[in-house]
Amino acid sequence: VKVLVTAGGTREPIDAVRFVGNRSSGRTGFALAAQAAALGADVTVVAANVALPRDPRMRYVDVQTAAELQDACAAAFARADVLLMAAAVADFRPARSFAGKLKKAEDERMRVELERTPDILAGLAATRRPDQTLVGFAAEHGDGALDHGRDKLARKGVDAVVVNDIARPDIGFESADNEVTIITAAGETHVERASKAEVARAVLDAVIVLRMLVEPETTGPAA
Ligand code: CTP
Repeated sequence: VKVLVTAGGTREPIDAVRFVGNRSSGRTGFALAAQAAALGADVTVVAANVALPRDPRMRYVDVQTAAELQDACAAAFARADVLLMAAAVADFRPARSFAGKLKKAEDERMRVELERTPDILAGLAATRRPDQTLVGFAAEHGDGALDHGRDKLARKGVDAVVVNDIARPDIGFESADNEVTIITAAGETHVERASKAEVARAVLDAVIVLRMLVEPETTGPAA
């Protein structure tokens, strides 16, 4: 089974030294990749700015921006059986970036105009085969997290959405632990606070169940 994992957070350049980024460390994505490899999967990780140790069992494609992450996913997606889209992709990027370093000059203010990035997961889902299993991740803040997650399941055309509540100070970003709810068409599974390795294993268990429900693709005439 070929598993494609995206991890980390994209950085969208303002100029040669500054960027718009987010707090994702890549721990969740790397934990998913490690659990998939432990289950015997052939794993490719698209890593967006992840400063964590690398695992010789897997292949890495390093990227910085949403556009690079999109290209790397586009190149690998058709061969993948499972996509685990854990990367925090910037929703907006500077509409222009400067080749050099911007100077302060006399300005008391500066404006950076941001434009939407493409929804990479939704774009991949639009080209998916029925035998592929796609998992999205949703970092939601406080009330209504599960409703937003359910909405994303339908809107993005994926098989599962893993929701975590980023309002909680004790889990998630920069933490070794997480607590999530895995939403599928069949219902919801809450995973109590545990290490990111244990949470990753629960996500892969959900993927295994989803794949048990997939119709095998006919590869030719029956023998
Ligand atoms: N994602 C993506 N491309 C983007 C933004 C997000 O592929 N430009 C993916 C993320 O990797 C994640 C999922 O989509 O798996 C959910 O991202 P999120 O930004 O929470 O979803 P949105 O639908 O953009 O909703 P929101 O309004 O909450 O930002």
